[in-house]
Amino acid sequence: MKSSQPHSHQTAYISVEDACLIVQRLGLAHCLAGMTRALEEDFKRWPEFDKTARVASHSARGVIELMPIADSHHYSFKYVNGHPGNTQAGLPTVMALGLLADVDTGLPVLLSELTLCTALRTAATSALAAQALARPDSQVMALIGNGSQAEFQALAFHHLLGIQEVRLFDVDPDARAKVMRNLADSGLHTVDCSSTAQAVQGADIVTTLTADKARAIILDTDLVQPGMHINAVGGDCPGKTELSKGVMQRASVFVEFEAQTRIEGELQQMPADFPVTELWHVLTAQAPGRTHRDQITVFDSVGFALEDFSALRFMRDCAQRLGLNRTLSLIPELNDPKDLFSLIRTHEEALSAT
Ligand SMILES: NC(=O)c1ccc[n+]([C@@H]2O[C@H](COP(=O)([O-])OP(=O)(O)OC[C@H]3O[C@@H](n4cnc5c(N)ncnc54)[C@H](O)[C@@H]3O)[C@@H](O)[C@H]2O)c1
Repeated sequence: MKSSQPHSHQTAYISVEDACLIVQRLGLAHCLAGMTRALEEDFKRWPEFDKTARVASHSARGVIELMPIADSHHYSFKYVNGHPGNTQAGLPTVMALGLLADVDTGLPVLLSELTLCTALRTAATSALAAQALARPDSQVMALIGNGSQAEFQALAFHHLLGIQEVRLFDVDPDARAKVMRNLADSGLHTVDCSSTAQAVQGADIVTTLTADKARAIILDTDLVQPGMHINAVGGDCPGKTELSKGVMQRASVFVEFEAQTRIEGELQQMPADFPVTELWHVLTAQAPGRTHRDQITVFDSVGFALEDFSALRFMRDCAQRLGLNRTLSLIPELNDPKDLFSLIRTHEEALSAT
């Protein structure tokens, strides 16, 4: 690995440490706002993207996924897993990395960590959707599931929607205590709750962020109040849901990419013709978002490749702005591009010289 100006064949590299440095130097609120702007720009040019549902490889303990997308200039993909049992083995449930490439040549231009960035982009996507779907006077959010993603969601809703109070519930009391600790200086009022029912009491927005490879019912109709916005993030894989069918039936449901959400989202429980609206239609004013105060809205989030495309280009811009010019040598540099063989000869000669 070199630390120099990127050469044309070199791939820019954002490590975990670089991503942390970007967030520390620019500030989390700034990063969340910038990521939300990048997402909005890309969602608004939806037809320009070549889109596919992600490719998933399921096993007994989790899923490993590839998430590709391209516009006419850049191609990107994310490698990501979801293993709810991982935390017991000392690993995060979700781990990711991503690549951005030049469409004209196929040259990889950026390789980046995406574990931290996934939390940022998921929170930013949730906030973007809620700006269009939640009641504008929303002040209180319930956060069910207080693991890795939780603080990012809480802070995105604080900075971008003006949420003042977060009511926390997790079956693991240590996870709740961790979020209370991490948000202590955030300006958010945090309330430690002993059940989902207690957490959602008086909440304008409910975010579900649990990890369990199961058809769970975290939120049922009895807990849903008129006017609530439900940001359902944890149900993102076949056989893994958080809302009851009844909640879906009572709500207007919004999705990222319908073809993918029908397989992976809360939507997997519903009939094939259950009506949904893709978020980009709302953002481009081709479909209404919230139409009245008492309407119940659900953002059935599963995470779509476009969001990682936006995250990668945002982080690349930040790294360049801060002069973080770390690169990796992944693609050979050849005097004659047809003479790949010369590469091993050159290395053999270099080896024998030493
Ligand atoms: N939609 C998206 O774009 C997106 C992006 C990232 C993660 N996710 C999903 O979000 C979920 C959370 O991710 P994470 O990285 O924070 O996972 P995590 O494992 O760090 O945290 C999950 C938390 O949920 C809690 N939990 C499990 N069952 C519960 C229940 N019945 N009630 C209350 N709490 C419960 C666990 O104790 C744990 O603290 C995962 O399912 C993940 O796959 C979705």
